[in-house]
Amino acid sequence: MTSTSLELERALEVKGLNVWLGEKQILHNITFKVNRGEILAIMGPSGSGKSTLLRAISRLLDHRTDARVRGEVLINGINVYTTNPYKARKYIGIVFQNPNPFPHMTIYDNIAVGPKLHKLVRSKTELDNLVRWALKSAMLWDDVKEKLNSYPAELSGGQQQRLCLARALAMRPKLLLLDEPTANIDPVNAKKIENIVKKMSREESVAVVIVTHTPAQAMRISDKVLFLFNGKTIEYGPTQVVASNPDHDLTQSFLRGEI
Ligand SMILES: Nc1ncnc2c1ncn2[C@@H]1O[C@H](COP(=O)(O)OP(=O)(O)OP(=O)(O)O)[C@@H](O)[C@H]1O
Ligand SMILES: [Mg+2]
Repeated sequence: MTSTSLELERALEVKGLNVWLGEKQILHNITFKVNRGEILAIMGPSGSGKSTLLRAISRLLDHRTDARVRGEVLINGINVYTTNPYKARKYIGIVFQNPNPFPHMTIYDNIAVGPKLHKLVRSKTELDNLVRWALKSAMLWDDVKEKLNSYPAELSGGQQQRLCLARALAMRPKLLLLDEPTANIDPVNAKKIENIVKKMSREESVAVVIVTHTPAQAMRISDKVLFLFNGKTIEYGPTQVVASNPDHDLTQSFLRGEI
């Protein structure tokens, strides 16, 4: 493989990442890679630093004066900390734990606003097509096609979460960062989201980092897992290997639901 194709393969590379919030070091020397079309699950107990890791990757800690980040984050080969944050962010789609659609925009505009702002489309027809594609990809089209001009408050929590996923997908991200996207929704919607994520990685070659509390979800969905504990990597490797033969006792306890 040439170096260029290797770079294309590697959607995300994190090298020796350390994060402090105030005096406290939250993440210690985190290193991992996610290729295009690959799903990495980040597992770990509450407070282990999972959300902080996603925030550091997407430079969402920038506005915090008490945050300090050391190490490298490369997205599509671009070092996000030495370039304008917007340059790397255009490759990233993010979905947070709690659905956060734009409440004062219609369902249509929630999806359309990003592509319009970033000039991803040249006509109203192209925009309509993109909105439809994103909603279909997020398995929400049939639920909302008759009410595109309604507001997100009319949707259930699970539908709102899929709206947020559709909003992220409409930007055609190369990298999806999902912070416990199914934590607050029912099992049927959770399953839908898992299926969408798998489909995006397999069919659109999107690289995915999904934070999950649930080992079972990590096992169902991911190619690789990273197990964080107190901000440190306890285990990192192919899901099957970690599931069947974890190196560390802590991982075993976590997988058994004891932590
Ligand atoms: N401003 C701050 N100053 C110091 N420590 C902080 C600050 N904000 C968060 N933390 C700590 O950072 C650690 C990591 O938090 P983070 O939200 O990343 O954990 P998490 O793994 O996402 O947890 P959860 O599963 O509950 O979402 C926690 O111990 C938290 O108390
Ligand atoms: Mg969190």
